[in-house]
Amino acid sequence: MNRRDALLVTGGAGFIGSSFIRYYLSEHPDVRVLNLDKLTYAGNLSNLADVESNPRYRFVQGDITDRRLVKSLFAEVSPPGIVNFAAESHVDRSILDASPFVDTNIRGTLVLLECARAQWAKGGGDHRFVQISTDEVYGDLAEGGLSSEDSPLAPSSPYSASKASADLLCGAFFRTYGLPAIVTRCTNNYGPYQFPEKLIPLMILKASRGEKLPVYGDGSNVRDWIHVSDHCRAIEAVLLRGRPGTVYNVGAGCEKRNIEIVRSILSYLGQPEELVEYVTDRPGHDQRYALDSSKIREELGWAPHVTFDDGIRQTIEWYIDHPNWVKECVSGDYREYYERNYGERCSRGESVD
Ligand code: NAD
Ligand code: TYD
Repeated sequence: MNRRDALLVTGGAGFIGSSFIRYYLSEHPDVRVLNLDKLTYAGNLSNLADVESNPRYRFVQGDITDRRLVKSLFAEVSPPGIVNFAAESHVDRSILDASPFVDTNIRGTLVLLECARAQWAKGGGDHRFVQISTDEVYGDLAEGGLSSEDSPLAPSSPYSASKASADLLCGAFFRTYGLPAIVTRCTNNYGPYQFPEKLIPLMILKASRGEKLPVYGDGSNVRDWIHVSDHCRAIEAVLLRGRPGTVYNVGAGCEKRNIEIVRSILSYLGQPEELVEYVTDRPGHDQRYALDSSKIREELGWAPHVTFDDGIRQTIEWYIDHPNWVKECVSGDYREYYERNYGERCSRGESVD
């Protein structure tokens, strides 16, 4: 794809999308970025405050399921590239209510694929549709194994089932219509601007306040962690040099048990381990995810740069230095969500504001 062109980014006001937009604008001085985001509870324009006055950046508030809007943006901008981050992204919320996950993650992706197909059929060169997916589509993994791009899809949660469905739609649009779609499947991201419902920012928030840290089950579940900046560089490589019709796993090979993560946060903040509270497990909880990422490393020359020790230290410091950002997140509907999700898990109810 020609890097001097326009890029449509969807879900760019969220955690990974905002990091990608900031990175891409700074690395590609000729590219224009249009960010289409609905601004759900997880979307926050202050994530992009430092680029809002950049003349090459434009924000449109809207829903990727709104076919008329998406079609009109395609007609107006005719972007040769799309990176679709827009999603309902939290497993626990999908367990409480799967409907928004089906709407945005499946139906929204279908709308984007159909509008891209219609626009790109008019000609105009080299196009790419990059679908940002997740390692969770492979489901639970036994100790020692790694999921490769060819591993079967076995999603466990409504979230991962909706992401797997969207991946399959991308594959079908490539096979049936030749739409140049590429799917990336990344491991758990961490870094600044992650909404404090996910493990790492939630635990930083709780530990910094001296509150109990709710660890699901026995804390032995394993996730493979990657700093968001390394993920963004991987997406850039796929967008510019990836092979259409294929999938790229993206992982840093950094497996940690949840309890190890929680202990490292407590230790960094000088808080006692007694703050850990083992709570009722997440239903359908996958024990382990881990990826074989040799394809993106060998084909596209990508490799992670940030070590976990550096990344987690910088991340903890970022949250401590941004109390107003955190406060914005944990207002409004968050309290209702928190009470629903944790009310049944935690033995002792605690507030988050
Ligand atoms: P996030 O929840 O922080 O942000 C999602 C963004 O999408 C928000 O800005 C939200 O407003 C927007 N959005 C939601 N519904 C929309 C709709 N219908 N129309 C337009 N915008 C909408 O998510 P994230 O953590 O940044 O994840 C981004 C993508 O990466 C998701 O597709 C997710 O599945 C995938 N992913 C995330 C991780 C992770 O660890 N966070 C790992 C692998 C893959
Ligand atoms: P999460 O950040 O929700 O990401 P995902 O479920 O997509 O991997 O959770 C990461 C791990 O941390 C997962 O095994 C569930 C666990 N977890 C807790 O133990 N306590 C919590 O409060 C949360 C949010 C997650």
